[in-house]
Amino acid sequence: MSRTAIVTGATKGIGKAVCTRLLLEGWEVVVTYATDTETATVAYEEFCKLAPGKVHLVQADSSDLKHIDTISDYLEAHDLTVDAVILNAGMTDRSDFLSIKPENWQKVFTANVHFPVFLLQRIYPRMNEKGSVTFTGSLMAIHPHSVSLAYGVTKSAVHALVTNLVKFFTEKQIRVNGVAPGFVDTEWQKNKPADIRQNITNKLASGRFCTPEELTDVYMLLINNQYMNGEIVVCDGAYSYK
Ligand SMILES: NC(=O)c1ccc[n+]([C@@H]2O[C@H](COP(=O)([O-])OP(=O)(O)OC[C@H]3O[C@@H](n4cnc5c(N)ncnc54)[C@H](OP(=O)(O)O)[C@@H]3O)[C@@H](O)[C@H]2O)c1
Repeated sequence: MSRTAIVTGATKGIGKAVCTRLLLEGWEVVVTYATDTETATVAYEEFCKLAPGKVHLVQADSSDLKHIDTISDYLEAHDLTVDAVILNAGMTDRSDFLSIKPENWQKVFTANVHFPVFLLQRIYPRMNEKGSVTFTGSLMAIHPHSVSLAYGVTKSAVHALVTNLVKFFTEKQIRVNGVAPGFVDTEWQKNKPADIRQNITNKLASGRFCTPEELTDVYMLLINNQYMNGEIVVCDGAYSYK
């Protein structure tokens, strides 16, 4: 029987790789993105070639809580229930500490913390028993090295959410886990200056950034393994071990 997943922020990078993997393994997937409709359309066409009739594309910007309705209404209109929710969309604000504006701070909190919580609350009735919720956290939640204060703090909150949410989902035997990637070669990282990328690479025992594709094994473990619950799995190529 086909299972259905929602992956937020899935038209590029990590989310796209997870979505591709789910489609290849027979899942039906609801894919969200924020603003880049051109890239989203190309990704959608690629997904449809892999799994015709199994892909849903929904524009829903996580920095605006009204898009919780967009996703919830879509599920209702298409009579979809979900087995896996992958809360991957994330934002940052790289202003230095003295320049952070309250509205930008709020936006990062909305996208990274508030939207996932209230999306889960809204779609809870449509989540199937024995399913899973998987958050994308970050190594920056563990090592406070992020250049963005809002990012580091919100990703720490994401990790705390994973452990705190577990008991609220036990009634339906839905597991809650998180992946904490280190440095993954997506647009997010590719736009960094070469010297900063080199500094990071110098600290990685693996000697390179992770590919989005190799990270998908971690997501699939958390989605599929019925005994993984309340875990944050770090996948960082041994950052700081060198
Ligand atoms: N790359 C890394 O090294 C790394 C490390 C640790 C954690 N992470 C986390 O991994 C997640 C994905 O990052 P990535 O590197 O794969 O990024 P990416 O390559 O830039 O892809 C971002 C994807 O998320 C969507 N997105 C961005 N902001 C969104 C929003 N407010 N609402 C809904 N969708 C949104 C984008 O859609 P649009 O194109 O329409 O904006 C795109 O589909 C984030 O939570 C990030 O914090 C990344």
